[in-house]
Amino acid sequence: MAETTARAAVPKGFRSAEQGWPALHRIPHPPHRLPLLGDVIGSSRRTPVQDSVRMARQLGPIFRRRAFGREFVFTWGARLVADLADESRFAKHVGLGVANLRPLAGDGLFTAYNHEPNWQLAHDVLAPGFSREAMAGYHPMMLSVAARLTEHWDRAAADGRWVDVPGDMTKLTLETIARTGFGHDFGSFERSRPHPFVTAMVGTLSHAQRLNNVPPPLAPLLLRRANRRNAEDIARLGHIVDEVVRRRRADGHADGDLLDRMLETAHPDTGERLSAENVRRQVITFLVAGHETTSGALSFALHYLSLHPDVADRARAEVDRVWGDTDTPAYEQVARLRYVRRVLDESLRLWPTAPAYSREATRDTVLAGKHPMRRGAWTMVLIPMLHRDPEVWGVDADRFDPDRFDPAAVRSRPPHTYKPFGTGARACIGRQFALHEATLVLGLLLRRYDLRPDPSYRLRVTERLTFMPENLRLRPARRSAARPDIPAQRTDSGTASRGTGGLAD
Ligand code: HEM
Repeated sequence: MAETTARAAVPKGFRSAEQGWPALHRIPHPPHRLPLLGDVIGSSRRTPVQDSVRMARQLGPIFRRRAFGREFVFTWGARLVADLADESRFAKHVGLGVANLRPLAGDGLFTAYNHEPNWQLAHDVLAPGFSREAMAGYHPMMLSVAARLTEHWDRAAADGRWVDVPGDMTKLTLETIARTGFGHDFGSFERSRPHPFVTAMVGTLSHAQRLNNVPPPLAPLLLRRANRRNAEDIARLGHIVDEVVRRRRADGHADGDLLDRMLETAHPDTGERLSAENVRRQVITFLVAGHETTSGALSFALHYLSLHPDVADRARAEVDRVWGDTDTPAYEQVARLRYVRRVLDESLRLWPTAPAYSREATRDTVLAGKHPMRRGAWTMVLIPMLHRDPEVWGVDADRFDPDRFDPAAVRSRPPHTYKPFGTGARACIGRQFALHEATLVLGLLLRRYDLRPDPSYRLRVTERLTFMPENLRLRPARRSAARPDIPAQRTDSGTASRGTGGLAD
């Protein structure tokens, strides 16, 4: 098909693949397709991404699934994904789960359609909030939130109790983004139950995922109760956010944090400012996007560290070497934890906590020279499978091995084979924030504790648009190496063969 730039506006929202893929018949789909229902055999509404990954292994680098009369194309082969990264022919597609979040976040940065003017405006106004200088400013606050976590873990360690890893990581990351970005304290560590913000957020993310599994015309009927609950969750989130903004307006500005930028900063070229409604959407966006995925990334990393004492020892030795015995590592000392960072990279390879992103053709084109696509046709990139492509990562792609991220190994791989933060203009704006926060916290936890796994635990992964390890608990034990005042306690050795979860089977 010739490459042309069509002039007509691309319709918004969902477009079934028949509308945009002229050679759809050449793309495989699972066997046993059922009339009306489509490719539902072997798939659960609770684990749509993990089911798609299992199908991907059977069907190859590009495949399609049908559900309730709508057809989706999934892509994960390295060559195809690299081609989709070409910003001159493809752009972000707001579809499926992301589009279902529009009632919550509207034209906020994550859910905005490419053509919406508020995307560029907010991007330009907020990007300096993630500069190196801004990050260095957040660092002391990140340290003080991490201190709340270690106080909590110290008590658990003293009593020999288990800690709820995803629960505690969620407290940590929510407090971190709330305090650094918005000067707000949710008091998460003072609560025995999750903050209502977290409960409402989990409710609304799960609902956005569930909507994909119901025939659209029947959704109002079948999901009447769930829709009502979702409306309540959205209202609760809005209410909490309004209070954060109200307080700031009452108390005055705070050293140019994200909220200050949202409220005070005009676009450098146009002088335009974000409207009150858009500020509300951005605050919700950043509070949600700024903590849920980082919490998952930390949780998976701690899971793997607890199962691989050799890796934990090596990472710990690095922390001791780079940080010495300071209680408050400086900003620059975090990026120097190269091996700890590899542990995080490898955890995000196996479990990219935002597991998919979608790309649409901005003109008629041919994907990787093989698959014609009309302008507006789109495909979902299945990141966990891209990250486990044996042609790129080897036959042992399911094995946890941080050395895959040593510089020589990284240089030996083709570009666009590692995409936990998405791609192009719409890639994650908070990438450096997440990496700094997570590396810092892993460093602090490794230095302070041995991480003892629950020997009976088998990794199960919950999906709510994001990935999160389910019911993961660890027993932290204080160690003495860098802190001579504390009695030594060495961990039992974990078992290195467990822990890649269902996707490895
Ligand atoms: C490990 C942690 C994180 C992961 C894995 C992650 C992943 C992603 C991915 C894959 C996208 C692209 C989605 C798409 O193309 O549809 C994205 C976008 C985004 N992320 Fe993150 N993210 C993380 C942390 C953060 C943090 C800490 C923040 C804010 C402080 C943040 C804010 C955003 C925003 C606002 C967008 C939309 C950007 C735009 O479209 O302009 N993320 N993230």
